[in-house]
This record gives sequence, C-alpha cells and structure tokens, in this order.
Amino acid sequence: MNFNLYLKELKKTDPEVYKWVLAEIKRQEFTIELIPSENIVSPSVMETQGSVLTNKYSEGYPNKRYYGGNHFIDKTEQLAIDRAKQLFGAEHVNVQPHSGSGANMAAYMAVLKLNDKVLSINLDQGGHLTHGHKLNFSGMLYDFVQYELDKDTKLIDYEKIREVALREKPKLIVTGYSAYPREVDFKKFKEIADECGAMLMADIAHIAGMIAAGLHQNPVPYCDIVTTTTHKTLRGPRGAIIMCKEKYAKDVDRSIFPGIQGGPLEHVIAAKAVAFGEALKPEFKEYQEKLLVNNKAMAQGLIDNGIDLVSGGTSNHLILIDLTKHNLLGKKVETALDNVNICTNKNMIPFDTSTPFNPSGIRIGSPVITTRGFNEEDCYKVGVLISIIIKNIDNEEIMLSVREEVQELCLKCPLYK
Ligand SMILES: Cc1ncc(COP(=O)(O)O)c(C=O)c1O
Repeated sequence: MNFNLYLKELKKTDPEVYKWVLAEIKRQEFTIELIPSENIVSPSVMETQGSVLTNKYSEGYPNKRYYGGNHFIDKTEQLAIDRAKQLFGAEHVNVQPHSGSGANMAAYMAVLKLNDKVLSINLDQGGHLTHGHKLNFSGMLYDFVQYELDKDTKLIDYEKIREVALREKPKLIVTGYSAYPREVDFKKFKEIADECGAMLMADIAHIAGMIAAGLHQNPVPYCDIVTTTTHKTLRGPRGAIIMCKEKYAKDVDRSIFPGIQGGPLEHVIAAKAVAFGEALKPEFKEYQEKLLVNNKAMAQGLIDNGIDLVSGGTSNHLILIDLTKHNLLGKKVETALDNVNICTNKNMIPFDTSTPFNPSGIRIGSPVITTRGFNEEDCYKVGVLISIIIKNIDNEEIMLSVREEVQELCLKCPLYK
C-alpha cells in the first residue's frame, strides 16, 4: 500500500489526527489480526461510509421521514433493507441500529416489559454483555436466568436448556454467542421455546457471514427476532440490523426510532447496502468457505503443538484457547502476542476460575487474515507461531524470530492490494 496517497486532505488540514490514523493503518498492515469480531471492509464499503450521506438528517423510515430532501437517502436505505431480506430470508428488517448492543436493546424493548424473565447463557461461557450481565442495561431492566454448557464437552446441552426453560418459564429465550467455537442448532432452540411457551431470539453477530453464505443453519425461520452486527464475519461497516417476523415489525421499528435512536447514520446504512450486495455474490460464499478451512488449519497448528482448545477444536470462525495447563493467564499471553504483532484478546473459558480482567483463555479467529488472503498453510503456521509464544513466553530471542515471521506473512498479504 502506498501510504502517501492516503488521506491527502487530512494530512494538510489536521496533521495531528492524520498522524494517528496513519499509525493505525500501519499497525493493521503489519499485524496478524486475530480478533474474531473484526474484519476488513472493501474499498467500496469504506468509500460509501466516507461519503456525503453523512451530511443528511433522516429521522423516520423510507417514505416516512421527519425531514425533507430524503428521496435519494430513501433509495439507499431501501436497498439495504431489500438486500438484507434477500440474504437472510427475513420478513422484516430494520437497518438503522448503530451497534449490536443497541439492536439488542431495541429487540428486547419490542417484545418485553420491564422485569420480564429471559433465559440466556452464563456470561463466562460465551454470551455477550447484552445477554443479561448485571452491569449492562439488559441485566438491570430484565430478569435474566442462565443456562450452562456441558461441563465435560463444553458444548451446548439442549436437554439441560430444556430443563431450565421448563422450570423457569421465561418469556424470551436468547441464543447466540461471542465466544462459542461450534455450530448452533436453532431448530432445537425453537422446539424448546415452543414447549415452554417462550419467544425465541437469536443474536448472530459473530456467525452472520456464514449464515448469509448458507454455511451455517439460518435461525430466521425459527426465531421471532434475530439481531446481528454488520461488521464481523458479514464484513460490512460498523453497525447492526434487526430482523423479525412481520407481526413484530411495527414494535421493532418504534423501539429503534423514536425509542432509543434519533437520526439514522445514512452513510453507514448505504455502506450496509453495499456490504449486503457483496455478500449476495458468489465470491462471498468462497470467502466464508475459505474462512472455515483456514480456521480449522489454525486450530490444527495449535493442537499439533500441544495447545488445548475449548471443545477440542472449531467448527466456525472462532477458536478459544485454554491456557490452564500452561499455568498462564490470558493477560500475559495477550501481551506477549501483541509484542510480536499478533493481535488477540484474553477471554473467559467455560467454568473459568479466574476473573474477566485476567481470564484463563485467549480468543482468536481468522476472518481478517482470510480477507487479507492468508491460505491454509499460512493459517496453520499462525497456529504454530502462537504455540511457540505460549511455550516460550519469557524468551526474548524466540520472540524476535517469531516477530520476523509475522512480518513476512503480513508483507505477503497486504491489507488493501
Ligand atoms: C454476540 C454479540 N452480540 C452483540 C455484540 C455487540 O455489538 P456492538 O459492539 O456493536 O455493540 C457483540 C459484540 O462483540 C457480540 O459478540
């Protein structure tokens, strides 16, 4: 990438901000980015997000706005809605949520009353803060009860969920995870929800890309409401959407606006339309197929070198490393990997006995490196490099040689060609 061609105006008008944006571009270029909730958007998504659409106020929805001058904005928002409907087979889509957390808040507001009971997973076991954490709005406003993974396999135990659901009789069951490396059977969740008379919601923020590509079971036919971020495996701009059955459409739209948001970010919504257009193309399915192959290869590189993975491996874009047997905690390993330009994040493992600030796991995944063009062999090597760092965490010499190998891999696959 020729860095001199980038952000020419900003360089002239605000050298201070320019300096840090440039630094971040270089950090991304020379880092093996393994945070599984990140991705690299296409230049078209980036251009659209940086377009004049940011100048417009558009409170309301297509053809029902509280401001004039929205005839073109209506077209881009409608395109985003139509393409999302086509991608996921949804009856109704709201493309305005600014973030995944906001989408979940609006989804709950649409179908719940204060203090209603909701069943979700224990948060140390792969759920998200918005699935009932006591410091999050969800845990403050609703009565969340939790289910656990199976203690031995660390897999979802549908029979156990059924038992809890029949005992607790929640109004809503929430499924979907931030750190679960295996597939989810939404059909089984629907059977449980029906048996206990609950509504069903899926938060597919992490796996939306694989679902859109037809490589993971789609929850939309089984759920009352489905939320997803748009910036993870879906590879769009930062934001979210809510999908639902037609009967909830008015409540969902009302809970986004005027419920919790004002003017929509139409530049981001147009960029969502572009990303959904990309996701409808065959190349996107190829990307998701490569992502699954690459992630398996990275897991194998770790397993072959004696690293334990939660559930023994991966069936999606994400891997959870269990550091317990190495007598290490996540903070130290995350820092050591950062020092060789491998970016990961420390994470709780199921039934973790440590704290969220220094948990026993490391969460990784290959959405970003697959977009960059890493192949199966490269990803296996990344797994090996991580295992070398874990096993030689205080060895400066080894760190230096791993750092060199990381740079070589990054140079081979530039961020933007
Ligand atoms: C499952 C899940 N839901 C919701 C969110 C929240 O998304 P955001 O960070 O856009 O608020 C995340 C974020 O990582 C997530 O993993």
